[in-house]
Amino acid sequence: MVSLWRTATTALAAVALLVADPTAAHSLLHYPAPRGNLANFGTCGSGQGCKGPCDSPRSASNIGKPWFKPVTIQRGQELRVTWERNNHPGGFVRLAMVPIDQSDSWDAFNAHVVKHSCYEAHCGPDNPSDNTFGPGNGPGNAECWTTFTVPSTFADGATVTLQWMWYAGGVYYAQPAAGFGNYYNCADIIVQGGSPVDAGNTTVYAHPPFQGGDFANPNSNMCKYWSSNKYEDCTFGSRMPSPVSGDLLSQSLEPCARTGSMNGKPNGY
Ligand SMILES: *[C@@H]1O[C@H](CO)[C@@H](O)[C@H](O)[C@H]1NC(C)=O
Repeated sequence: MVSLWRTATTALAAVALLVADPTAAHSLLHYPAPRGNLANFGTCGSGQGCKGPCDSPRSASNIGKPWFKPVTIQRGQELRVTWERNNHPGGFVRLAMVPIDQSDSWDAFNAHVVKHSCYEAHCGPDNPSDNTFGPGNGPGNAECWTTFTVPSTFADGATVTLQWMWYAGGVYYAQPAAGFGNYYNCADIIVQGGSPVDAGNTTVYAHPPFQGGDFANPNSNMCKYWSSNKYEDCTFGSRMPSPVSGDLLSQSLEPCARTGSMNGKPNGY
């Protein structure tokens, strides 16, 4: 029995590595470039024990280092944010932006959301008819993207932090019903110029836009997702994995849930 199970899991792992290696790069914010972290190759997964809100804390930001050239954005600009699909279908991306000195605070990011997008926005599997892991769930590293309007609340020269959160994504370790926990990245950016400063214009934070439409829902305002449309449901709380040598799956608390894929909007929309 035991050896049969080992054979089965080894075979599963071999297939799974093609689609979902829990130890290697899960989806990452690509542009603007994230802070990164040395501990986990830039990846920050709640199931790996990285609880956000950023991949690294404020104290690890490279902002101000002489060799670091931060992206500069303008108030009112439509900033294009990109990430790599990394062989994973579905889920939502939430963007939030706060002054860098609030970037260790989950409460601050939660109160300053600027956009919700589908994860598979403008991207999808390399081979749309590869249904090995479910319809449209095949491998593919295409670049995904969305845009948001840079709020007018930030003064010239302000250093701000963009939080990128991927949640409700799917096909954990080649198991079509299994969904991932949340992943987090942050980029530190300078605001300079653009529309006039209007510190009191908090309209966008009160009603951040949701833009649906993804590979599975090209003509409707929805996204394909797994587990839950509430990011709070896939944080794994304060739980941490207990890695066992030689057991890749033990390195993460994932999957979050085994719901199979659904289509819908983020909670509250
Ligand atoms: C407030 O900012 C939004 C963009 O975030 C803009 O569309 C809107 O026109 C602004 N409102 C006022 C009163 O300036």
